[in-house]
Amino acid sequence: MKRVDDFRLKFGKKELVPIMTGGMGVDISTAELALVAARLGGIGHISDAMVPTVSDRRFKTGFVKEKQKKYKYNVANRDKSDVHFNLERLAEATKLHVGRTMEAKQGDGLIFINTMEKLTMNSPRDTLRVRLSTAMDGGIDGITLSAGLHLGSLALVADHPRFRDVKFGIIVSSLRALQLFLRKNARFDRLPDYIIVEGPLAGGHLGFGMDWAQYDLKTIVEEIVRYLKQEGLNIPIIPAGGIFTGSDAVEFLEAGAAAVQVATRFTVTKECGLPDKVKQEYFKAREEDVEVNLLSPTGYPMRMLKKSPGIGSGIRPNCEAYGYLLDGSGNCAYIEAYNRELERHPDADTLSVKDKMCLCTHMRNFDCWTCGHYVYRLKDTSRRLPDGSYELLSAEHVFNDYLCSTEHRIVLPAA
Ligand SMILES: Cc1cc2nc3c(=O)[nH]c(=O)nc-3n(C[C@H](O)[C@H](O)[C@H](O)COP(=O)(O)O)c2cc1C
Repeated sequence: MKRVDDFRLKFGKKELVPIMTGGMGVDISTAELALVAARLGGIGHISDAMVPTVSDRRFKTGFVKEKQKKYKYNVANRDKSDVHFNLERLAEATKLHVGRTMEAKQGDGLIFINTMEKLTMNSPRDTLRVRLSTAMDGGIDGITLSAGLHLGSLALVADHPRFRDVKFGIIVSSLRALQLFLRKNARFDRLPDYIIVEGPLAGGHLGFGMDWAQYDLKTIVEEIVRYLKQEGLNIPIIPAGGIFTGSDAVEFLEAGAAAVQVATRFTVTKECGLPDKVKQEYFKAREEDVEVNLLSPTGYPMRMLKKSPGIGSGIRPNCEAYGYLLDGSGNCAYIEAYNRELERHPDADTLSVKDKMCLCTHMRNFDCWTCGHYVYRLKDTSRRLPDGSYELLSAEHVFNDYLCSTEHRIVLPAA
Protein backbone atom coordinates (compact mmCIF):
# COMPACT_ATOMS: atom_id res chain seq x y z
CA MET A 1 0.00 0.00 0.00
CA LYS A 2 1.47 3.35 -1.05
CA ARG A 3 2.19 6.26 1.26
CA VAL A 4 2.81 9.90 0.35
CA ASP A 5 6.49 9.30 1.09
CA ASP A 6 6.65 6.94 -1.89
CA PHE A 7 6.14 9.93 -4.21
CA ARG A 8 8.27 12.94 -5.02
CA LEU A 9 7.47 16.34 -6.54
CA LYS A 10 9.99 17.15 -9.25
CA PHE A 11 10.99 20.67 -10.24
CA GLY A 12 13.59 20.02 -12.91
CA LYS A 13 16.28 18.03 -11.13
CA LYS A 14 15.10 18.99 -7.66
CA GLU A 15 13.03 16.44 -5.78
CA LEU A 16 10.75 17.43 -2.95
CA VAL A 17 8.42 15.72 -0.52
CA PRO A 18 5.04 16.24 -2.23
CA ILE A 19 3.42 18.15 0.64
CA MET A 20 2.83 21.86 0.50
CA THR A 21 1.39 23.74 3.45
CA GLY A 22 -1.07 26.31 2.09
CA GLY A 23 -0.85 30.05 2.50
CA MET A 24 -3.13 31.27 5.27
CA GLY A 25 -3.44 34.99 5.76
CA VAL A 26 -3.16 36.98 8.00
CA ASP A 27 -0.07 35.28 9.42
CA ILE A 28 -1.96 32.08 10.21
CA SER A 29 0.57 30.22 8.07
CA THR A 30 3.49 31.72 9.97
CA ALA A 31 7.14 31.61 9.02
CA GLU A 32 7.59 29.01 11.79
CA LEU A 33 5.03 26.73 10.16
CA ALA A 34 6.45 27.16 6.65
CA LEU A 35 9.97 26.57 7.94
CA VAL A 36 8.99 23.18 9.37
CA ALA A 37 7.60 22.07 6.01
CA ALA A 38 10.78 23.21 4.26
CA ARG A 39 13.03 21.57 6.85
CA LEU A 40 11.22 18.28 6.29
CA GLY A 41 11.77 18.51 2.54
CA GLY A 42 8.39 19.85 1.47
CA ILE A 43 7.14 23.33 0.60
CA GLY A 44 5.87 25.79 3.18
CA HIS A 45 3.88 28.91 2.37
CA ILE A 46 3.99 32.19 4.14
CA SER A 47 1.44 34.82 3.09
CA ASP A 48 1.93 38.47 2.26
CA ALA A 49 -1.58 39.44 3.38
CA MET A 50 -1.49 42.63 5.48
CA VAL A 51 2.26 42.36 5.70
CA PRO A 52 2.80 45.78 7.38
CA THR A 53 0.70 44.76 10.37
CA VAL A 54 2.38 41.34 10.45
CA SER A 55 5.76 43.08 10.48
CA ASP A 56 4.64 45.40 13.30
CA ARG A 57 3.62 42.41 15.40
CA ARG A 58 6.70 40.34 14.61
CA PHE A 59 9.46 42.90 14.29
CA LYS A 60 8.11 45.81 16.34
CA THR A 61 8.00 48.15 13.34
CA GLY A 62 5.46 50.98 13.29
CA PHE A 63 4.00 50.82 9.79
CA VAL A 64 0.34 50.76 10.78
CA LYS A 65 0.68 53.60 13.27
CA GLU A 66 2.46 55.73 10.70
CA LYS A 67 -0.27 55.21 8.10
CA GLN A 68 -3.01 55.75 10.62
CA LYS A 69 -1.42 59.01 11.76
CA LYS A 70 -1.05 60.28 8.22
CA TYR A 71 -4.71 59.65 7.39
CA LYS A 72 -6.20 60.47 10.80
CA TYR A 73 -8.06 63.42 9.27
CA ASN A 74 -10.02 61.00 7.09
CA VAL A 75 -11.32 58.58 9.72
CA ALA A 76 -14.87 59.95 9.78
CA ASN A 77 -14.95 60.48 6.02
CA ARG A 78 -16.97 58.03 3.96
CA ASP A 79 -14.73 58.61 0.98
CA LYS A 80 -11.56 56.55 1.38
CA SER A 81 -10.07 57.30 -2.03
CA ASP A 82 -7.34 59.44 -0.42
CA VAL A 83 -5.98 56.58 1.68
CA HIS A 84 -2.94 55.08 -0.02
CA PHE A 85 -0.13 52.77 0.97
CA ASN A 86 3.35 54.20 1.00
CA LEU A 87 5.05 51.87 -1.46
CA GLU A 88 8.47 52.19 0.16
CA ARG A 89 7.03 51.15 3.50
CA LEU A 90 5.18 48.27 1.87
CA ALA A 91 8.47 47.13 0.36
CA GLU A 92 10.25 47.42 3.73
CA ALA A 93 7.60 45.31 5.44
CA THR A 94 7.66 42.67 2.70
CA LYS A 95 11.44 42.55 2.75
CA LEU A 96 11.49 42.04 6.51
CA HIS A 97 8.88 39.29 6.42
CA VAL A 98 10.39 37.43 3.49
CA GLY A 99 14.04 38.13 4.29
CA ARG A 100 13.84 36.95 7.90
CA THR A 101 11.99 33.82 6.85
CA MET A 102 14.51 32.94 4.16
CA GLU A 103 17.44 33.57 6.51
CA ALA A 104 16.00 31.02 8.92
CA LYS A 105 15.40 28.35 6.29
CA GLN A 106 17.04 24.97 6.84
CA GLY A 107 16.82 21.74 4.93
CA ASP A 108 16.10 20.86 1.33
CA GLY A 109 12.57 22.14 1.01
CA LEU A 110 11.29 25.45 -0.32
CA ILE A 111 9.46 28.50 0.99
CA PHE A 112 6.79 30.07 -1.18
CA ILE A 113 4.65 33.15 -0.59
CA ASN A 114 0.90 33.34 -1.20
CA THR A 115 -0.04 36.59 -2.92
CA MET A 116 -3.72 37.42 -3.27
CA GLU A 117 -4.76 39.65 -6.15
CA LYS A 118 -7.93 40.65 -4.32
CA LEU A 119 -5.85 42.70 -1.89
CA THR A 120 -6.19 45.67 -4.21
CA MET A 121 -4.96 48.23 -1.64
CA ASN A 122 -6.46 51.25 -3.44
CA SER A 123 -3.83 50.92 -6.16
CA PRO A 124 -3.92 47.36 -7.47
CA ARG A 125 -1.07 47.36 -9.96
CA ASP A 126 1.48 49.41 -8.03
CA THR A 127 1.00 47.61 -4.75
CA LEU A 128 1.03 44.17 -6.36
CA ARG A 129 4.19 45.02 -8.27
CA VAL A 130 5.90 46.02 -5.02
CA ARG A 131 4.69 42.91 -3.20
CA LEU A 132 5.89 40.57 -5.95
CA SER A 133 9.19 42.23 -6.75
CA THR A 134 10.17 42.70 -3.10
CA ALA A 135 9.43 39.06 -2.31
CA MET A 136 11.71 38.17 -5.23
CA ASP A 137 14.40 40.55 -3.94
CA GLY A 138 14.05 38.97 -0.50
CA GLY A 139 15.04 35.57 -1.86
CA ILE A 140 11.66 33.82 -1.87
CA ASP A 141 11.77 30.42 -3.62
CA GLY A 142 8.34 30.69 -5.19
CA ILE A 143 5.22 32.83 -5.50
CA THR A 144 1.71 31.42 -5.50
CA LEU A 145 -0.70 33.76 -7.24
CA SER A 146 -4.08 33.42 -5.53
CA ALA A 147 -7.53 34.97 -5.06
CA GLY A 148 -7.89 36.34 -8.54
CA LEU A 149 -7.27 35.51 -12.19
CA HIS A 150 -3.86 37.23 -12.23
CA LEU A 151 -4.08 37.98 -15.92
CA GLY A 152 -1.61 40.87 -15.62
CA SER A 153 0.48 39.83 -12.62
CA LEU A 154 3.47 38.26 -14.39
CA ALA A 155 3.80 41.31 -16.62
CA LEU A 156 4.43 43.41 -13.49
CA VAL A 157 7.68 41.59 -12.76
CA ALA A 158 8.72 40.25 -16.17
CA ASP A 159 11.83 42.43 -16.13
CA HIS A 160 12.92 41.35 -12.64
CA PRO A 161 16.33 39.60 -12.68
CA ARG A 162 14.85 36.59 -10.85
CA PHE A 163 11.80 36.27 -13.14
CA ARG A 164 12.97 32.94 -14.55
CA ASP A 165 14.51 31.71 -11.32
CA VAL A 166 11.63 32.13 -8.85
CA LYS A 167 8.95 29.44 -9.17
CA PHE A 168 5.56 30.88 -10.11
CA GLY A 169 2.33 29.04 -9.52
CA ILE A 170 -1.34 29.93 -9.84
CA ILE A 171 -4.34 28.76 -7.84
CA VAL A 172 -7.33 27.91 -10.03
CA SER A 173 -10.66 26.29 -9.33
CA SER A 174 -11.60 25.57 -12.95
CA LEU A 175 -10.05 24.66 -16.27
CA ARG A 176 -11.46 27.87 -17.71
CA ALA A 177 -9.53 30.04 -15.24
CA LEU A 178 -6.35 28.12 -16.07
CA GLN A 179 -6.87 28.51 -19.81
CA LEU A 180 -7.36 32.27 -19.40
CA PHE A 181 -4.17 32.55 -17.35
CA LEU A 182 -2.15 30.53 -19.86
CA ARG A 183 -3.48 32.49 -22.82
CA LYS A 184 -2.86 35.90 -21.25
CA ASN A 185 0.67 35.02 -20.20
CA ALA A 186 1.78 33.10 -23.31
CA ARG A 187 3.88 36.04 -24.49
CA PHE A 188 6.33 35.63 -21.61
CA ASP A 189 7.45 32.24 -22.81
CA ARG A 190 7.26 31.17 -19.21
CA LEU A 191 4.72 28.56 -18.16
CA PRO A 192 3.70 28.41 -14.52
CA ASP A 193 5.98 26.03 -12.60
CA TYR A 194 2.99 24.48 -10.83
CA ILE A 195 -0.77 24.74 -10.76
CA ILE A 196 -2.70 24.45 -7.51
CA VAL A 197 -6.21 23.22 -8.21
CA GLU A 198 -8.32 24.28 -5.26
CA GLY A 199 -11.66 22.55 -4.80
CA PRO A 200 -14.81 23.65 -2.96
CA LEU A 201 -13.87 22.20 0.46
CA ALA A 202 -10.90 24.54 1.03
CA GLY A 203 -10.56 27.20 3.70
CA GLY A 204 -10.40 30.92 3.02
CA HIS A 205 -12.13 32.32 -0.06
CA LEU A 206 -13.57 29.92 -2.60
CA GLY A 207 -13.19 30.19 -6.36
CA PHE A 208 -16.81 29.04 -6.76
CA GLY A 209 -20.23 30.61 -6.35
CA MET A 210 -22.69 29.69 -3.62
CA ASP A 211 -23.31 26.53 -5.67
CA TRP A 212 -19.87 25.31 -4.51
CA ALA A 213 -21.31 22.02 -3.22
CA GLN A 214 -22.05 20.92 -6.79
CA TYR A 215 -18.36 20.81 -7.64
CA ASP A 216 -15.83 18.19 -6.77
CA LEU A 217 -12.06 18.47 -6.63
CA LYS A 218 -11.35 15.08 -8.24
CA THR A 219 -13.39 15.91 -11.33
CA ILE A 220 -11.71 19.31 -11.78
CA VAL A 221 -8.24 17.78 -11.32
CA GLU A 222 -9.01 15.05 -13.88
CA GLU A 223 -10.23 17.63 -16.35
CA ILE A 224 -7.10 19.76 -15.95
CA VAL A 225 -4.71 16.77 -16.10
CA ARG A 226 -6.43 15.64 -19.33
CA TYR A 227 -6.22 19.13 -20.84
CA LEU A 228 -2.51 19.56 -20.07
CA LYS A 229 -1.75 16.14 -21.54
CA GLN A 230 -3.69 16.98 -24.68
CA GLU A 231 -1.76 20.27 -25.02
CA GLY A 232 1.57 18.54 -24.36
CA LEU A 233 2.17 20.72 -21.29
CA ASN A 234 4.11 19.19 -18.44
CA ILE A 235 3.20 21.30 -15.40
CA PRO A 236 2.91 19.81 -11.90
CA ILE A 237 -0.68 19.76 -10.65
CA ILE A 238 -1.25 20.23 -6.93
CA PRO A 239 -4.80 19.61 -5.65
CA ALA A 240 -6.02 21.36 -2.50
CA GLY A 241 -9.16 21.42 -0.40
CA GLY A 242 -10.38 18.66 1.88
CA ILE A 243 -7.29 16.44 1.65
CA PHE A 244 -7.43 15.38 5.26
CA THR A 245 -5.40 12.16 5.47
CA GLY A 246 -2.25 10.86 3.85
CA SER A 247 -4.44 8.32 2.06
CA ASP A 248 -6.57 11.12 0.56
CA ALA A 249 -3.32 12.56 -0.75
CA VAL A 250 -2.15 9.21 -2.16
CA GLU A 251 -5.39 8.94 -4.16
CA PHE A 252 -4.57 12.22 -5.89
CA LEU A 253 -0.91 11.34 -6.39
CA GLU A 254 -1.90 8.05 -8.01
CA ALA A 255 -4.30 9.93 -10.29
CA GLY A 256 -1.51 12.09 -11.70
CA ALA A 257 -1.10 14.91 -9.17
CA ALA A 258 2.49 15.93 -8.41
CA ALA A 259 1.88 17.01 -4.78
CA VAL A 260 -0.95 18.17 -2.52
CA GLN A 261 -1.58 21.45 -0.74
CA VAL A 262 -3.02 21.15 2.76
CA ALA A 263 -3.92 23.70 5.40
CA THR A 264 -6.72 22.95 7.85
CA ARG A 265 -4.84 20.11 9.59
CA PHE A 266 -2.10 22.64 10.42
CA THR A 267 -4.41 25.22 12.02
CA VAL A 268 -4.19 23.35 15.34
CA THR A 269 -0.42 23.12 15.42
CA LYS A 270 1.76 25.06 17.84
CA GLU A 271 3.45 26.85 14.94
CA CYS A 272 0.18 28.14 13.45
CA GLY A 273 -0.41 31.86 14.08
CA LEU A 274 -3.96 31.57 15.46
CA PRO A 275 -4.23 32.28 19.19
CA ASP A 276 -4.41 29.07 21.25
CA LYS A 277 -7.98 29.86 22.32
CA VAL A 278 -9.03 29.98 18.67
CA LYS A 279 -7.24 26.71 17.92
CA GLN A 280 -9.45 25.11 20.58
CA GLU A 281 -12.52 26.45 18.74
CA TYR A 282 -11.27 24.72 15.60
CA PHE A 283 -10.79 21.47 17.53
CA LYS A 284 -14.26 21.68 19.06
CA ALA A 285 -16.07 22.56 15.83
CA ARG A 286 -18.91 20.31 14.70
CA GLU A 287 -20.05 19.97 11.11
CA GLU A 288 -23.08 22.15 11.76
CA ASP A 289 -20.83 24.95 13.08
CA VAL A 290 -19.33 25.63 9.63
CA GLU A 291 -20.84 27.85 6.95
CA VAL A 292 -19.97 29.28 3.57
CA ASN A 293 -21.22 32.85 3.38
CA LEU A 294 -20.89 36.05 1.38
CA LEU A 295 -19.64 38.26 4.22
CA SER A 296 -16.27 38.93 2.59
CA PRO A 297 -16.23 42.31 0.84
CA THR A 298 -14.28 40.67 -1.99
CA GLY A 299 -17.48 39.12 -3.31
CA TYR A 300 -16.03 35.61 -3.11
CA PRO A 301 -17.79 33.10 -0.86
CA MET A 302 -15.77 32.29 2.23
CA ARG A 303 -15.93 29.36 4.65
CA MET A 304 -15.81 30.07 8.37
CA LEU A 305 -17.07 29.01 11.77
CA LYS A 306 -20.51 30.49 12.48
CA LYS A 307 -19.22 31.52 15.92
CA SER A 308 -16.55 33.86 14.46
CA PRO A 309 -16.69 37.01 16.60
CA GLY A 310 -16.38 39.18 13.48
CA ILE A 311 -19.77 38.05 12.14
CA GLY A 312 -22.38 40.77 12.71
CA SER A 313 -19.83 43.26 13.99
CA GLY A 314 -20.55 46.83 12.95
CA ILE A 315 -17.10 48.22 13.59
CA ARG A 316 -16.17 51.48 11.87
CA PRO A 317 -14.19 50.75 8.67
CA ASN A 318 -10.51 50.77 9.55
CA CYS A 319 -9.15 51.79 6.15
CA GLU A 320 -6.83 54.48 7.50
CA ALA A 321 -4.89 51.80 9.37
CA TYR A 322 -5.49 48.90 6.97
CA GLY A 323 -7.45 49.39 3.72
CA TYR A 324 -6.25 46.25 1.96
CA LEU A 325 -9.56 45.63 0.21
CA LEU A 326 -10.06 49.13 -1.16
CA ASP A 327 -10.46 48.82 -4.90
CA GLY A 328 -8.71 51.15 -7.34
CA SER A 329 -11.26 53.88 -6.55
CA GLY A 330 -11.14 53.58 -2.79
CA ASN A 331 -14.35 51.54 -2.40
CA CYS A 332 -15.02 48.44 -0.34
CA ALA A 333 -18.35 46.64 0.04
CA TYR A 334 -18.05 46.80 3.83
CA ILE A 335 -17.88 50.60 3.78
CA GLU A 336 -21.15 50.70 1.84
CA ALA A 337 -22.82 48.23 4.20
CA TYR A 338 -21.58 50.13 7.25
CA ASN A 339 -22.75 53.50 5.94
CA ARG A 340 -26.17 52.10 5.13
CA GLU A 341 -26.53 50.90 8.74
CA LEU A 342 -25.25 54.23 10.04
CA GLU A 343 -27.95 56.05 8.07
CA ARG A 344 -30.63 53.71 9.39
CA HIS A 345 -29.49 54.05 13.01
CA PRO A 346 -27.77 57.43 13.33
CA ASP A 347 -28.10 57.53 17.13
CA ALA A 348 -27.12 53.97 17.94
CA ASP A 349 -24.15 53.43 20.25
CA THR A 350 -23.10 50.33 18.40
CA LEU A 351 -24.04 49.12 14.98
CA SER A 352 -24.40 45.62 13.65
CA VAL A 353 -23.62 44.97 10.00
CA LYS A 354 -25.00 41.59 9.05
CA ASP A 355 -24.30 41.25 5.34
CA LYS A 356 -20.60 42.16 5.13
CA MET A 357 -17.59 41.96 7.39
CA CYS A 358 -14.69 44.36 7.89
CA LEU A 359 -12.33 41.58 6.83
CA CYS A 360 -9.11 43.54 7.36
CA THR A 361 -9.90 44.23 11.00
CA HIS A 362 -11.30 40.82 11.80
CA MET A 363 -8.63 38.78 10.02
CA ARG A 364 -5.97 40.97 11.65
CA ASN A 365 -7.48 40.28 15.09
CA PHE A 366 -8.13 36.56 14.42
CA ASP A 367 -11.87 37.15 14.77
CA CYS A 368 -12.80 35.66 11.40
CA TRP A 369 -12.35 31.93 11.91
CA THR A 370 -11.97 30.74 8.36
CA CYS A 371 -11.43 27.02 7.95
CA GLY A 372 -11.67 24.11 5.56
CA HIS A 373 -14.85 22.04 5.37
CA TYR A 374 -13.31 19.21 7.41
CA VAL A 375 -12.43 21.41 10.38
CA TYR A 376 -14.91 19.28 12.35
CA ARG A 377 -12.61 16.27 12.01
CA LEU A 378 -9.69 17.98 13.77
CA LYS A 379 -10.86 16.58 17.10
CA ASP A 380 -9.96 13.13 15.76
CA THR A 381 -6.36 14.22 15.19
CA SER A 382 -5.39 14.90 18.80
CA ARG A 383 -6.07 13.75 22.34
CA ARG A 384 -8.26 15.40 24.91
CA LEU A 385 -6.56 16.68 28.06
CA PRO A 386 -8.04 16.30 31.56
CA ASP A 387 -9.31 19.92 31.47
CA GLY A 388 -11.35 19.14 28.34
CA SER A 389 -9.12 21.02 25.94
CA TYR A 390 -7.24 19.38 23.08
CA GLU A 391 -3.50 18.96 22.93
CA LEU A 392 -1.92 21.21 20.34
CA LEU A 393 0.10 19.30 17.77
CA SER A 394 3.51 20.01 16.35
CA ALA A 395 3.64 20.86 12.66
CA GLU A 396 6.25 18.13 12.28
CA HIS A 397 3.82 15.57 13.69
CA VAL A 398 1.07 16.58 11.24
CA PHE A 399 3.49 16.71 8.32
CA ASN A 400 4.81 13.23 9.13
CA ASP A 401 1.31 11.90 9.60
CA TYR A 402 0.45 12.98 6.03
CA LEU A 403 3.68 11.43 4.85
CA CYS A 404 3.31 8.00 6.42
CA SER A 405 -0.39 7.34 6.92
CA THR A 406 -2.16 4.44 5.23
CA GLU A 407 -5.83 3.38 5.20
CA HIS A 408 -6.86 6.89 6.26
CA ARG A 409 -5.41 6.32 9.71
CA ILE A 410 -4.37 9.38 11.69
CA VAL A 411 -1.70 8.96 14.33
CA LEU A 412 -2.39 10.80 17.59
CA PRO A 413 0.45 12.62 19.33
CA ALA A 414 2.47 10.50 21.76
CA ALA A 415 1.02 10.66 25.29
C1 LIG B 1 -7.34 29.41 8.08
C2 LIG B 1 -7.14 29.40 6.59
C3 LIG B 1 -6.76 30.57 5.94
C4 LIG B 1 -6.54 30.55 4.56
N1 LIG B 1 -6.11 31.69 3.95
C5 LIG B 1 -5.80 31.66 2.63
C6 LIG B 1 -5.22 32.80 2.01
O1 LIG B 1 -4.97 33.82 2.66
N2 LIG B 1 -4.95 32.74 0.68
C7 LIG B 1 -5.19 31.59 -0.05
O2 LIG B 1 -4.92 31.56 -1.26
N3 LIG B 1 -5.72 30.49 0.53
C8 LIG B 1 -6.01 30.50 1.84
N4 LIG B 1 -6.48 29.37 2.45
C9 LIG B 1 -6.60 28.12 1.63
C10 LIG B 1 -5.42 27.18 1.86
O3 LIG B 1 -4.22 27.77 1.46
C11 LIG B 1 -5.57 25.82 1.18
O4 LIG B 1 -5.49 25.88 -0.21
C12 LIG B 1 -6.86 25.06 1.51
O5 LIG B 1 -7.41 25.43 2.74
C13 LIG B 1 -6.56 23.58 1.52
O6 LIG B 1 -7.63 22.83 1.97
P1 LIG B 1 -7.65 22.20 3.45
O7 LIG B 1 -7.67 23.34 4.39
O8 LIG B 1 -8.92 21.40 3.46
O9 LIG B 1 -6.43 21.35 3.62
C14 LIG B 1 -6.73 29.36 3.82
C15 LIG B 1 -7.13 28.20 4.50
C16 LIG B 1 -7.32 28.20 5.86
C17 LIG B 1 -7.74 26.93 6.54
